[in-house]
Amino acid sequence: MSGYFIETGWVNLAYLVASVLFIKGIKGLTHPRTAVSGNLTSALGMLLAVVVTLLANGLDYQWILVGAVIGGLVGGVIAVRVQMTKIPEMVALFNGFGGGASVLVAGAAFMITANPDVQTTVSTGLSGLIGAVTFSGSLIAFGKLSEILPGRQISFPGLRIFNALVGLGALACVVWLTVDPSATIAYWVIVAAALVLGITLTIPIGGADMPVVISLLNSYSGLAAAATGFVLMNNVLIIAGSLVGASGLILTKIMCVAMNRSLGHVLFGKLGPSADGPSADDVYGGKVKSTSPEEVAMLFDTAQRVLVVPGYGLAVAQAQHIVRDMANVLEERGINVEYGIHPVAGRMPGHMNVLLAEADVPYDKLREMEDINTEMEQIDVCMVVGANDVVNPVARTDPKSPIAGMPIIDVDKARTVVVVKRSLSPGFAGIPNPLFAADNCLMMFGDGKKAITELVSALKEG
Ligand code: TAP
Repeated sequence: MSGYFIETGWVNLAYLVASVLFIKGIKGLTHPRTAVSGNLTSALGMLLAVVVTLLANGLDYQWILVGAVIGGLVGGVIAVRVQMTKIPEMVALFNGFGGGASVLVAGAAFMITANPDVQTTVSTGLSGLIGAVTFSGSLIAFGKLSEILPGRQISFPGLRIFNALVGLGALACVVWLTVDPSATIAYWVIVAAALVLGITLTIPIGGADMPVVISLLNSYSGLAAAATGFVLMNNVLIIAGSLVGASGLILTKIMCVAMNRSLGHVLFGKLGPSADGPSADDVYGGKVKSTSPEEVAMLFDTAQRVLVVPGYGLAVAQAQHIVRDMANVLEERGINVEYGIHPVAGRMPGHMNVLLAEADVPYDKLREMEDINTEMEQIDVCMVVGANDVVNPVARTDPKSPIAGMPIIDVDKARTVVVVKRSLSPGFAGIPNPLFAADNCLMMFGDGKKAITELVSALKEG
């Protein structure tokens, strides 16, 4: 089977249309209401780019078809079967494969180019460097998140110097390749050094910080693809790669700001309970009031405004559907129910939006943190379901706390707060939460789904 040829002008026009679709698609992804159509718009752009690329150059389709069928099947099965809480791992793997593909494509294209110019050699070297860092770094991130590897920070003395030397060595090989394009060994040295670098840059970062790292690696995979675009002189690859590179970087920044941590702190620093912070006994001793679903059901007798604040525990318990059922029962009684969404609640960007959308919670019921905080005093009952750090008032009050300065949802200012979680165990940041011992707070201990199911039964009986 041999292919077709399309004139360059038409190819570039199609690439331009595809690029516009990518940008429109990304814009759509910025709001839950338009996210699905945005995703489809970008996918349409990608389909156009792939079809035009396949038809443009008189390719032989045999092996392309084999690869597309195997890759499509594997990707499709993984995407259908993955649990919502495992999406970060899946994204990590896909980023890694993207980086690996850039290494192979750029390397292969370089090997068959007669007399490569400076642009080609520099782009090939950078593609090998960034792509291989992305590949091995993403595999480590995947291993840490899926607990195949220990999630703790693994380091050794002199690691930063080692990384700096390996990085400089790889860059020196990019120069070597540029000066002497016939030295293809330089390319493989770059790839080998970058594979090591991907591992040694990622192992010192704690498993809990992996979502930020994955977002950064996503950005790298885009840059590697853009560099490969320069090797192949393929405009749409350059544009798509740059878009991924830029958007990954913007997302990384948003996540860091929402956690009030600098990128440098995530990459090189530590997150852990401050040594001199108060112990759980100091914070909770004799002050925590536990409650039952029946008691909580009675709280709603006089309530007019209810706010649900979901967190990571809601995802673990898969409690989104039952929370929606609870909201239905309350709304039937004329109570206004809304949801307070913290930008880093859960373990991935938009985690809570996705879960609540899955349960058909209307978008206009979702309130952003800054917005709902201004109305918190008017909330009669605030139901915190599986959230901890994102509602921890210590962020406002203790400058020494590891979450000091992190913006939080001020649920402690609501009239009554009910917290649903299994125990007094800490969240991601590993610190006690004085909210649980506050006068206006009641703890409804239990698995999120089970506890809210019992609450719904109590509401229906009451
Ligand atoms: P966390 O502070 O991690 O707290 C989650 C709570 O859920 C835990 O205290 C746990 O308490 C409870 N839980 C676990 N399983 C449960 C179940 N089956 N039923 C009920 N509760 C359950 O969560 P958060 O408030 O959503 O905060 C997110 C944290 O992750 C922040 O510190 C944030 O900085 C960090 N982080 C987020 C992201 C993104 S992008 N979202 C990225 C990196 C880091 P029990 O064990 O007592 O039940």
